[in-house]
Amino acid sequence: MDVTKIEVAETAVVTKEFTEAALVRSRNRSLLLTDCLDDTELSAAHSPLMSPLVWDLAHIGNQEELWLVRDVGGREPVRRDIDELYDAFKHSRSSRPELPLLDPRQARHYIRTVRGKVWDVLAASTFSGSPLELNGFAFGMIAQHEQQHAETMLATHQLRSGSAVLVEESPPSVRRKPLLDEVIIPSGAFVMGTDDEPWALDNERTAHQVYLTEYAIDRFPVTNGQFIEFIDDGGYSRPELWSREGWRHRIDAKLQAPLFWERDGSRWWQRAFGIDKPVAPRRPVVHVGYYEAQAYATWAGKRLPTEAEWEKAARWDPESVRSRKFPWGDALPDETRANLGQRHLSPADVGAYPDGASAHGVQQLIGDVWEWTSSGFHPYPGFHAFPYREYSEVFFGGDYKVLRGGSFGTDSVAARGTFRNWDHPIRRQIFSGFRCARTLSGRP
Ligand code: AVJ
Ligand code: FE
Repeated sequence: MDVTKIEVAETAVVTKEFTEAALVRSRNRSLLLTDCLDDTELSAAHSPLMSPLVWDLAHIGNQEELWLVRDVGGREPVRRDIDELYDAFKHSRSSRPELPLLDPRQARHYIRTVRGKVWDVLAASTFSGSPLELNGFAFGMIAQHEQQHAETMLATHQLRSGSAVLVEESPPSVRRKPLLDEVIIPSGAFVMGTDDEPWALDNERTAHQVYLTEYAIDRFPVTNGQFIEFIDDGGYSRPELWSREGWRHRIDAKLQAPLFWERDGSRWWQRAFGIDKPVAPRRPVVHVGYYEAQAYATWAGKRLPTEAEWEKAARWDPESVRSRKFPWGDALPDETRANLGQRHLSPADVGAYPDGASAHGVQQLIGDVWEWTSSGFHPYPGFHAFPYREYSEVFFGGDYKVLRGGSFGTDSVAARGTFRNWDHPIRRQIFSGFRCARTLSGRP
């Protein structure tokens, strides 16, 4: 069967209302995350891994000015003088607090001014013609850019010390613990990546056929309870469970548990956004690095899924012989299907989103936690950098692992079955977890 010959669904037509709503949602979140702190905290370095929040805020506006006001709109620059300050490639995150940045009042004024012009550019756009304007791509890219920084800013909040300033409703809990089993994905080809998702970024393109032999994948992400079993079984003190680089890092960084965990006697506590809580056993583990995920998988007699295995389990529908946009189909995410959008500030219990299951019955693929895969970040066949090399291309082949699915901190504009995130294997401040996979036949 040549699955690439199968007709795909009609390309969705993106409306201006949809575009406006995505831009507004991301902006509301950026403002909520910055309005709750005073100027000192907004300008402070909460971690050498992160920018000061006030840098993120003006950087969001600067990217929006570059692409939407100047490029798509062809209008006069708002602040050409600050381009260099907010170019992420010119200054490392840890050096940004020392720069002559806009202060919080100036940054808010700047992003408001830019956004005002963007509404005019949006009204005037035909959503056709150039690839930047087709289906509002550049607007969608900028909404996704702001959302990615809103998630980064949420991670900065998690790293900051001091009393809690963010309060959100607890995620849904599940009364009965579901069976933490595996799902078998039969051998066969599927379509990975996309050609017709209007706001897909360059690294998600092009659609291509991938053949995978039969494998098993966990129905749910690995839970805190499962991860505690690994810890209790000496997981952090058994080098044979770790890769060579992983064990070296485990020693150097003195890893003993997920980031933000602390043991009190036999109980584990977790600090989240300024509040200490007992670790909830049925929630997916979060704030683990790739090496810890890999060690857990080895301990469990499994391995991490490849990126292709994750995507086939998430998107492939053997009945209609096509890859869907989301695990459950093509309908946009809502609160019954996925834990997204910072509606809750934690992953939800496994089993909380049965309506979000994929055609194969795999759950919580979208939302809750980013899932580490065993794959490095590489281009798909037919890749071409668009609209700028620095979004994806300069990161290909580096020391990065791909993460899939989005977290509770990700807005739906950047959560879909094809979306690819990447980070260094040692990173743990992101909202990262994982699920395991296993080869059933052929080579191990
Ligand atoms: C795709 C999340 C790795 O934050 O470095 C933000 C997203 N690119 N601004 C990052 C991004 C440019 C990127 N990640
Ligand atoms: Fe950025």
